[in-house]
Amino acid sequence: MKYYILFGPPGAGKGTQATAMKENYNLRHVSTGELLRNEIAAGTELGLKAKALIDAGALVPDEVVEGMIESLFNSVKDVNGFLLDGFPRTIAQAEALDAMLAKRGEEVTAVVSIMIPDQMIMERIKHRAAIEGRADDANEDTINNRIKTYHDKTEPLVEYYKKAGKYNEADGIGTIEEVRSRIFGIMDKF
Ligand code: AP5
Ligand code: MG
Repeated sequence: MKYYILFGPPGAGKGTQATAMKENYNLRHVSTGELLRNEIAAGTELGLKAKALIDAGALVPDEVVEGMIESLFNSVKDVNGFLLDGFPRTIAQAEALDAMLAKRGEEVTAVVSIMIPDQMIMERIKHRAAIEGRADDANEDTINNRIKTYHDKTEPLVEYYKKAGKYNEADGIGTIEEVRSRIFGIMDKF
């Protein structure tokens, strides 16, 4: 199995690019944000707890998302691999992922990072707010907190994966098609 991490700040285009990537490389797309939004929509206990944190632009506890990922690793079989979108998001999650994969005799195949500047994050998320109606897109303070959370908690993963020799970056500025061809150029190496 291949284990790709689709990395990048909020609004960079992870979900957008994942659609083409999963089809082209026969991967199971796993967005922890989407899984959590499904829990909220279903009104589960987990969803209720997650909602307050997501609406504040904070992260949900590491154990919650780690559990979701591990149960998918145990159940999904009929693909070439996984495309992890929005996970890991902290050093602790990255270490947990390494441990989960080591137990299976596997490792992270590659990190594909989509990078855009902060000011473009705000533009793209505001544009999407009108289309998708996500609660965490509706309020400028929430978006700013998501950007801050990204820099504080998630950006250190760039160094973590550079040190591991797994980090690959695609410039996220340009049309969706331009970014996709940069990403495919990276994916084709693995
Ligand atoms: P999550 O759902 O992962 O949100 P995010 O990381 O903030 O990323 P987004 O989904 O907002 O952006 P995206 O990169 O997918 O961009 P998109 O393709 O939609 O997480 C939500 C929350 O859940 C977190 O804040 C946290 O609370 C919690 N959570 C999730 N995972 C967690 C974890 N591991 N640990 C703890 N908590 C977790 O594109 C954005 C817009 O731009 C779209 O409108 C799109 O059409 C447009 N666009 C895309 N590409 C281009 C382009 N090239 N040119 C112009 N427009 C473009
Ligand atoms: Mg997304």
